[in-house]
Amino acid sequence: MASPSRSGVFDAASDSRLEQFCESISFDRRLYEVDIEGSSAHAEMLAVQGLISGKECDQILEALAAIRVELDEDTLPMRTELEDVHMHVEQALIDRLGDVGRKLHTARSRNDQVSTDFRLWIRGQLDLVDGLLADLQRAFLGRCEGDFDVILPAYTHLQRAQPVLASHYWLAYIEKLARDRQRIADCRSRVNICSLGVAAVAGTSMDIDRKLTAEKLGFDDVTRNSLDTSSDRDFVVEAAFVLTMIAQHLSGWSEEWILWSTEEFGFLKIPHAFCTGSSIMPQKVNPDVLELTRGKTARVVGNLQTLLVLIKGLPLAYNRDLQEDKPPLFDSFDTVIACLQLAIPIVSGSTLQRDRIASRLEHGYLDATTLMEYLMKKGLPQRTAHHLVGSLVGEAMKRKIPLSEMPLDAMIEAGVSVDNSIFDVLGTANAVRAYVSFGSSAPEQVRQQMQYWKTLLS
Ligand code: ARG
Repeated sequence: MASPSRSGVFDAASDSRLEQFCESISFDRRLYEVDIEGSSAHAEMLAVQGLISGKECDQILEALAAIRVELDEDTLPMRTELEDVHMHVEQALIDRLGDVGRKLHTARSRNDQVSTDFRLWIRGQLDLVDGLLADLQRAFLGRCEGDFDVILPAYTHLQRAQPVLASHYWLAYIEKLARDRQRIADCRSRVNICSLGVAAVAGTSMDIDRKLTAEKLGFDDVTRNSLDTSSDRDFVVEAAFVLTMIAQHLSGWSEEWILWSTEEFGFLKIPHAFCTGSSIMPQKVNPDVLELTRGKTARVVGNLQTLLVLIKGLPLAYNRDLQEDKPPLFDSFDTVIACLQLAIPIVSGSTLQRDRIASRLEHGYLDATTLMEYLMKKGLPQRTAHHLVGSLVGEAMKRKIPLSEMPLDAMIEAGVSVDNSIFDVLGTANAVRAYVSFGSSAPEQVRQQMQYWKTLLS
């Protein structure tokens, strides 16, 4: 059977190799729900405008609903000569309704149809990802209270830097995910504009009501220029970028927790339900989910590249190249959703190895910066204090003791004019208590941030 898109102009049937090459049904079938949603709204608009009768509209809606069930149940045969999901749905309609089915494509092209379908699909997926991000934020927030008494080293250059509350770490990830959610909302505002009605490229001479279709489909607005709309895939690239940033955040988190769960760090125990074993080494408990979260990020980054290169240099307006936009974005959504679904239980189910963390917390001179600031508050210029504390740390290293165990006279010898109040800022717990600035790891600040997120996420 010939494709409905092959008009009387053709003097030959399509070559089967062309059909195999051009088809997209193998991957765009998953758009069928939004395709039917879009077609239903389009038919209703056509009826309101008098372009089809009310009775014809009812027949179309009923048939579309039945086709949807067949697609749900996977009983509608897929045929490569029908190219894509749009043609499958339309042909199924024509098979049922004959000429009435042939009217659905009035004032519509697959060019605006595919753009609208993809926008609807992306909108739904963005909302799904946003919900998962909120759940992951809640998982981190849910740890804050119970871990509030744990102090961890903060690292820069992966070298021990300053002490922070464990809750401060969890809040850091909540902030990253909050930006991801802002990006989703921003991206959604451009995704959620209706392209249906620009037809192929120039609009239509039929008296349609684009605003009505848009309203029925829950779009915020309609696009303003048919040429731009027919060519536009910015919204696809933007969604791919938003997903890439999420994947980057998950990848960094994975890397950190892989390190933290090593024997060398020993900060964290990942729930065994989310760990794997080794086929040869009986003692192994491996963090494969975290490694694959890090690994799968590569594909998400690659998909963004693919999309950017795909649209680079395309002249206005629709070009068939654009059909290639779907596999990469589908993959990015699938991958990020799968990673998020596993990140949530791993974050809430992991346990900090408190004893192990505490046993080495006074290693690495995490309190040196606070000591420097103590001396600055006593009147020393920063550079002088920095140098002095450096020498003190050098001396403490030689003695293999933490700063808090340095005898006062040794400090005085090193040139620090001090009294016993110095011991108020030495040691990691004191150093954490000494912080005061907004956004710092001061317990009071962390409490405030926890309250802020509790209000926002409840
Ligand atoms: N399958 C096509 C796509 O995904 C639909 C649009 C085809 N339009 C056309 N004029 N051939 O982009």
